[in-house]
Amino acid sequence: MEENKPRKRDRIKAGFSKLLKEDKLKAVSEYIENPGEFIALLKGFWYSDSEKQKQFDEFSENTISNFHIPYGISPNVLINGKIYMVPMVIEESSVVAAASAAAKFWGDRGGFHAEVVDVQKVGQLHFCYKGDKQTLQSLMPEIETELRASTKDMTVKMEKRGGGILDIKLIDFTDRLPDYYQLRVTFNTCDSMGANFINSCLETFGHTLQDYFLRKGETVEIVMAILSNYTPDCRVKVWVECPVYDLDGVDEHLDGKAFAEKFKKAVDIAHIDEYRATTHNKGIYNGIDAVVIATGNDFRATEAAGHSYAARNGHYESLTSCEINDDMFKFTLEVPMALGTIGGLTSLHPLAKESLELLGHPSAPELMTIAATMGLANNYAAVKSLTTKGIQQGHMKMHLANILNQLGATDQQKSAALVYFKDKTVTYAGVEEFLRHNNE
Ligand code: MEV
Repeated sequence: MEENKPRKRDRIKAGFSKLLKEDKLKAVSEYIENPGEFIALLKGFWYSDSEKQKQFDEFSENTISNFHIPYGISPNVLINGKIYMVPMVIEESSVVAAASAAAKFWGDRGGFHAEVVDVQKVGQLHFCYKGDKQTLQSLMPEIETELRASTKDMTVKMEKRGGGILDIKLIDFTDRLPDYYQLRVTFNTCDSMGANFINSCLETFGHTLQDYFLRKGETVEIVMAILSNYTPDCRVKVWVECPVYDLDGVDEHLDGKAFAEKFKKAVDIAHIDEYRATTHNKGIYNGIDAVVIATGNDFRATEAAGHSYAARNGHYESLTSCEINDDMFKFTLEVPMALGTIGGLTSLHPLAKESLELLGHPSAPELMTIAATMGLANNYAAVKSLTTKGIQQGHMKMHLANILNQLGATDQQKSAALVYFKDKTVTYAGVEEFLRHNNE
C-alpha cells in the first residue's frame, strides 16, 4: 500500500561515509525536490583547484561542498599603542560595522588597553580508586614523578619553547561520587592551543597511573582523560577609559556624563539579570568569535570557557563591567580564552594563515588581546546603541540592503530605496512593493 512505502526521508543510507564524494552528493540530492539544481549549486561552491578543494574536504568528514561566510576587516584598531587591521569572519550584518565604529571612536581616545592575566590551560584525568584516600594522597609525590617521566618525550619540545606541565593536583570528589578522584593538570602550551599535546599527556598519565597501582597489586579505573575547555587562568583583560566629558556628543540628548551613567546602568543590569546577560554576552562573542574563526581557532571552546566564567559567582552575569570614578569612565572585559597561533587549522586553512599575517604574526597571548578587544568593541557599540537611538535603526539599514540583494535590485533601485525607507519601517513586502513601482 502507498502509505506503507518508506518515504525517501525514512530510508537509512548505510555506508554513506564510504561513498565517493560525487556519490554522496547524488545520494543526498534524492532528498531534494530538484536534484539536478541542488548538485549544480553545491558543486558551484567547490574550488576549481582540486588540490585546494581536497584540503577543505579533509578538514571534516562526509564533505559535499563549502559553506561561505563573509570575511571582513575592522580597520585601524589601536591596542596597546599598536594598530591592527583585524579580520572578522561573521555572517551577521552590522557586527563589523559596529566594531569598526567603536574602534575608531576609542582610537581617538587612547585606544584599547589590554593585558594577559595568565596563560594556564587545564586537563583532567578522571579516575576511581577504592583504596585508602590518605595513602593515595601520600603517594602523590611518587606518582607525580612517574607521570612526568612517562611524558618526557612529549614535554621536552614544549619545555624548550618555555611551556610544559606546570602542576598536577589530586582532587578528591569521593563525597560527591563514590571513589571518584581527578588529577587536575595545568599546562603552558605556548603559542599552540595545545589540545593534542594536553590530551596525549593525559592519556599517557592514565596508562602510567594504572601501571603504578598494578605494580602495587591494586587497580584504578581510568574513566576518561581530556582537556578542560574551562580555562579561568588563561585569561585576558581589555579596557577603554576616558573622562566622561569626552563622551559628549555620543548622544544628541545626553551629555557625556549622563550617557556614561546610562551606559553603566545597562551594564549593571547585565550583572543582575541572566536574561539580559545572555544577550549582552552574545554581543561580546559577536566580536570575539569573528576573530577566533578568522584565525582558525575553535569558537565553541572559546565560548564555552567564557560562559562558564560568566557563571563563576554562582549566577550567570555580564563579562564586561563599567565604572565611573571621579568622572572617569572605564569599561572592561575580562574573559578566559585558549587560542593558538601555531598548529591546527591556523596553518592549514589558507585564510587563517593570511589572517595571522595580517595581524603581524601575533603570539597566542597577543591574539587573545585582539579577539577580546573586538568583543569589547562590539559590546560597547551594542550597549551604546541600545541606550541611545536603539538597535533597529542601524539593523534595518542592513536588513534593507539584504532584502534588496535578495530581490535582485539594481544599484539605482538600491539608492532610491535607501532614500525612500529612511523614515519608514522596512519589511520584505514593503520592499517588494517599492521595487514594483520603481522597476524602470
Ligand atoms: C545582536 O547580535 C547582539 C545584541 O543583541 C547584543 C546586545 O543586545 O547587547 C545587539
